[in-house]
Amino acid sequence: MSEDLSPIPPGTLPLSARSPGKCIVFGEHAVVHGAPELLFALDLHTQVLVRGAARSSLNGDYEAAALHPYFRSALESPWASRATVDVRAVSRIPRGAGLGSSAALSAGLAATLSSLSGGVDRSTLAQRSFDVERGAQGVGSPGDTSAAVAGGFLTVNGEASGPVLWTVRDGPRSWEVRRVADPGWVWVVAHSGIPRATGDAVRAVGVRLARPDGPALLDQFREVATEGTRAVAAGDRATAAALMNRNQELLREVGVSHPRLEALLDAARPFAEGAKLTGAGAGGSVVVLPRPGAETELVRRLARAGGLPFVVKPAPSGVGLVDPPA
Ligand code: PMV
Repeated sequence: MSEDLSPIPPGTLPLSARSPGKCIVFGEHAVVHGAPELLFALDLHTQVLVRGAARSSLNGDYEAAALHPYFRSALESPWASRATVDVRAVSRIPRGAGLGSSAALSAGLAATLSSLSGGVDRSTLAQRSFDVERGAQGVGSPGDTSAAVAGGFLTVNGEASGPVLWTVRDGPRSWEVRRVADPGWVWVVAHSGIPRATGDAVRAVGVRLARPDGPALLDQFREVATEGTRAVAAGDRATAAALMNRNQELLREVGVSHPRLEALLDAARPFAEGAKLTGAGAGGSVVVLPRPGAETELVRRLARAGGLPFVVKPAPSGVGLVDPPA
C-alpha cells in the first residue's frame, strides 16, 4: 500500500489539486456518537484549479464566495491566503450521493489555499479540511475529510486497529484516525439518484438514539464496526460481508434506509456477499462486496434497478497537488 502522507508544499498560483471521494463500509451515523467507523478513499476524484483573479468565484459564479457554503467556509478560514481566486472544480463523484464529494472539495480547497499560504503537513491539513466541511455543514465527523487527505482505508474511533495518523478536534470533542490495511478487494457502489441532506439525517438519528433503547442500539453499531474492521484488516471477506448485512439492519432500524436503497440492495443480493447503504442514507448510495466474478452482472442488475453503479477500488493516496492544466 502506498503511504503518501507527505506535506503539501508551498506554492504560487495557478495551483491544482486532486482529491478522492470516500466510501463508508461500517459505522456511519454511529461515528457521530463516538462509535467506530471504517471507510476508504474512493478512486473517483474531484479536481480543483485555482487561479489569481480580481474577485473570487467558483465555476464562474461570483456569488459563491458569499453563498456557496464550502467555498465560503474555505475562503474565510483563518489560515487561508487572503488572495482573491478563480476556482474551477470538476468532479467524477456524484453530488449528494454519500460518496464524499463535499469532503473532496473541502480537502482540495484546503490543500490549494494552504499551499498558497506557505504549505501544510498532512495532519494539520486533515484538521483544516474537516473545519471547512464542518463550517459549511454544521454537523458531522471527520471521517470523510480524513479519507480525502490520507487515502487508503481508515478507522475513526477504531480501537488499536493500526497506527494513529492524527487526532481531529472540534471544540471539546476529538476523533482518533488510524490506518487500516487494504485487503485488496474490488467494491461496487451505486447511487440511487435520491438526493438527501446529511445534516437532516444525522439529526433524525440523534433523536432516534435518544430513545430508551438508543444506548443498546449504539452498542450494536459499535460491535459491528469493531468486528467488521478486524475482519477487513485480516482479509476475512465472509465475516466482513455478513457484518455489512448486519450493519444495514441497524441502519434500517434507526430509520435511514429508503425504498429505493432497499430496491438496489434486493437487486444486488444474488450477486453480493454483503451490501448496505453507505453515507448518511435516506437516499444516496449503496456499497456492495460482490461475489468474486459476479461484478459485471451485479453492475448490470444495479443499473436495471435504477441505480448509477461504479466498480471501485480504494485510492491509495489522498489529496495532492497536480500540474495545473495548460
Ligand atoms: O452521506 P455523507 O457523505 O454526508 O456521509 C455522512 C456520514 C455520517 O456518519 C452520517 C455523518 C458524519 O459526518 O460522519
